[in-house]
Amino acid sequence: MYLQRRNRITRRSGAIRSLLAETLLTPNDFILPLFITEGQDIIEEIPSMKGYYRRSLNKTIEDVKQMWTLGIKAVLLFVKASDEVKDNTGKEAWNPDGLMQRSVKAIKDAVPEMVVMTDVALDPYSIYGHDGIVDIEKGTIINDQTVEALTLMSLSHAAAGADFIAPSDMMDGRIGAFRKALEENGFTDTGIMSYSAKYASCFYGPFRDALDSAPGFGDKKTYQMNYANRLEAINETLQDVEQGADIVMVKPAMAYLDIIREIKNSVTVPVSAYHVSGEYAMIKAAAEKGWLDENKAILESLTSIKRAGADLIATYFAVDAAKLLNN
Ligand code: PBG
Repeated sequence: MYLQRRNRITRRSGAIRSLLAETLLTPNDFILPLFITEGQDIIEEIPSMKGYYRRSLNKTIEDVKQMWTLGIKAVLLFVKASDEVKDNTGKEAWNPDGLMQRSVKAIKDAVPEMVVMTDVALDPYSIYGHDGIVDIEKGTIINDQTVEALTLMSLSHAAAGADFIAPSDMMDGRIGAFRKALEENGFTDTGIMSYSAKYASCFYGPFRDALDSAPGFGDKKTYQMNYANRLEAINETLQDVEQGADIVMVKPAMAYLDIIREIKNSVTVPVSAYHVSGEYAMIKAAAEKGWLDENKAILESLTSIKRAGADLIATYFAVDAAKLLNN
């Protein structure tokens, strides 16, 4: 054959492939989610997230110090609230001495440069496991009242020293409300990473085990988005940017690579993607069975999310990937 173009020339050796790689993953791309629980010296494995743990604050701090040395620059905090503090107002969410607020302060004290991001939603504090306040008679989630509660929650995270608040609730109008409240209260350094395109997904199952936060009735389909849709992802994201979001997010990641690309092409703020608990669990389970090479699956998955357009990736594999990339 006399071929004008031989595509295999640029794949011939490892060195050539390295020279021509378009997408390079680094530990700077990662946000490490952390599950924090009350108590001392606690490290509990989450049954549906093998190799992932819930830790008490003292153990979390040891962990964060180590993560910093591996090159992890950001952590995203989630707390497991005890049953006694759960109600339908979510008021524990803005308790200045609550577990989240104490955790933010302690982590910033221990590793001041670590970028601390906090989840903003009522589900860990809700007796109904919903992200907002429930109208008990109608069985619905009340939007505007929830935004008021979440605004108090955001302010308390900012007061504790959070670098970014990360609202995952999907109520309408929350980004504008938070930005206004942050401005009015002098929190001009606090960023907002909005979960702007968050889908109602079955892939959050293991996370709800981790925080004991599964919805007590119904599902989250009246606030999280329908996975059949892409236009509303663009609409919501553009609205969040206009309302003041510093970073936007697509969640989950691997079943939504098209949405990540679409959002990346539609906005000029950084885009993050959340490689969620169920996506972690799938790789872990297949690797445990010997059906997938875990390390290769991690790097291929995370690279594909970055290639799709994610500037940042929240992933439970952040530490494993950082170690693989550092070697
Ligand atoms: C809570 C929240 C959820 C996740 C992040 N924040 C669960 C949910 O919406 O039910 C999921 C994260 C994951 O699955 O890894 N608002």
